Amino acid sequence: MNNFPPGFAHYPLYFDAAQQAELIAAVREGVKGAPFFVPRMPRTGTPMSVVMSNFGELGWVTDKERGYRYDPTHPVSGNPWPAMPKLLMDLWDDVTGYPVQPEACLINWYRDGSKMGAHIDNDEQDAKAPVVSISLGDPAIFRMGGPKRGGPTKGLKLFSGDVVVMAGESRFCYHSVSKVFYGESALVPKGGRINLTMRRVRPS
Ligand code: SIN
Ligand code: FE2
Repeated sequence: MNNFPPGFAHYPLYFDAAQQAELIAAVREGVKGAPFFVPRMPRTGTPMSVVMSNFGELGWVTDKERGYRYDPTHPVSGNPWPAMPKLLMDLWDDVTGYPVQPEACLINWYRDGSKMGAHIDNDEQDAKAPVVSISLGDPAIFRMGGPKRGGPTKGLKLFSGDVVVMAGESRFCYHSVSKVFYGESALVPKGGRINLTMRRVRPS
């Protein structure tokens, strides 16, 4: 694959060091009431290699019994998710221009050896809304494919502060995180990479 699919955009270092620190502080505050949990694959119950939490009215969760879904409360504590930080709401307006607000922001924490397999983000009812992703901490290799699993992919190294937007055709293309350069950044206090992924869920 020579080019990224139409609708894909990369904003290197969208957030400066101070803003990155502010986002990490918001994550640390948020996970006090909505601790990182282990997402599990539907049916098999196999744990994913990231641990996760969410900001926003709705959070993405998954477990063996009920599979992928959005839920207004944390699967363990039953608490509502922490509010989405203003920096993220402003980012959404700036890079998407989408007329309705995002409802969910996944917080994925990649620790030593964590990866994410190829998938399409397909649990949202609003199919027109872009997905916006923010990288914090260790760099990673993000791979973008096409609408069919197993086709050619194009890699991109994402650094702390980078933002990626998947809109248009790219919104329903396979993508993955094939490698994290663990230990290269000191931003995340306990190490690793944090990815924040914002989505509109309900139809608008
Ligand atoms: C995802 O696609 O859910 C995560 C992407 C990333 O971690 O950069
Ligand atoms: Fe994704």
